[in-house]
Amino acid sequence: MLLLFIISFSFLHCTEESFVSIEPEPFLGARPPMGWNSWNGFGIDINEDIIKTIADLFVSKGLRDVGYRYIVMDDGWHYPERDSQGNLVADPIKFPSGIQSLAQYIHSKGLKLGIYSDAGTNTCQGFPGSLNHEQQDANTFASWEIDYLKYDWCHSEGLIAEQAYSLMRQCLDRTGRSIMFSICEWGENDPWLWAPEIGQLWRTTHDIFDAHLSWVLNLENQIGLEEYAGPGHWNDPDMLIVGIHGDSHLVGSGCTDAEYRSHFSMWCIVAAPLMIGCDLNKVSEFSLETLTNQEAIAINQDPLGIQGYRIQNENGKQIWVKPLTHNNWAVALFNNGLEETDITFEWKDLNLHPSTVVKIRDVWLHKNLGQYSQSFTATVPFHEVVLLKITTL
Ligand code: GLA
Repeated sequence: MLLLFIISFSFLHCTEESFVSIEPEPFLGARPPMGWNSWNGFGIDINEDIIKTIADLFVSKGLRDVGYRYIVMDDGWHYPERDSQGNLVADPIKFPSGIQSLAQYIHSKGLKLGIYSDAGTNTCQGFPGSLNHEQQDANTFASWEIDYLKYDWCHSEGLIAEQAYSLMRQCLDRTGRSIMFSICEWGENDPWLWAPEIGQLWRTTHDIFDAHLSWVLNLENQIGLEEYAGPGHWNDPDMLIVGIHGDSHLVGSGCTDAEYRSHFSMWCIVAAPLMIGCDLNKVSEFSLETLTNQEAIAINQDPLGIQGYRIQNENGKQIWVKPLTHNNWAVALFNNGLEETDITFEWKDLNLHPSTVVKIRDVWLHKNLGQYSQSFTATVPFHEVVLLKITTL
């Protein structure tokens, strides 16, 4: 028995390739949140069966086991009117068993349930917002056993973002329930300057759509924001589009598998929240493998929590680096040019002496490439990312 314990302990903690921490977080949002959000795949056409099925798929497809936890119902869960006491009400046709019962189902799977509201009078889709009902709504969410609130910014004319988000944070705290707070004002009010004190994550961009150009644009918007991210507070370049392939209400006809994998690689490098957006009922093998690559996820979830940054962009040849624990590094060689190309990075890019010998592992090939000094060159196909883990010896 003891031997079995020792073997499994060393398997979980010491193998080079199995990186995802299974430890509970030391505090809320200590690592970038991982989960699924209904918006990109379903729009307002959500209901309790869909949400339960996603939870079941988290378990059966191994998403829970690699760290995905939060299942977030975005806009459209509501009944269009508050009740006679002013309480928010879930749409009884979409959610006949009620939200609390749904939360209990989600919790029984070892997962967490998120919900959506808005700081203004109405949500972006016209359902009741939380303005002037902040404490009442926070209490409702806590009584439903909600674990995560995404708080939007439509119909907020005249409000000051920092004040509005701070107010809801205080109301959530007063409930006594631990609720992750996702600030969604699209980066319009420089949230990185004030949001780290208020929420665990804040959107830095307008909505992503289902195209290569869109995720690249959102990625570019992270440049310069690195210093504001860290354990407990993350820049959020929006939810993943991996696996949608044009099959949703989002604008855009989709990306190639390789482009989606590049998108995922870069969200890992910039320590972005990993909120899946596709309909997991239809997810392809390729996209599922992308979303569950433990080595890529481990880069995203590295406990140092440093947001990676770009050190080169020449004719679409991009080099991004992310310092990891134990003096290791992740390096992404991103070809956003017009054709296949070689990309070289040098040790000086990582503050290493040229003679230093490092081990290089290809995260998508799941392969050790060997030991190198001075520099490394990879041939990178069009719109692909070669994602590397660099281990100093
Ligand atoms: C805004 C948000 C999106 C989504 C929709 C829902 O556009 O930015 O992420 O929540 O509202 O209406």
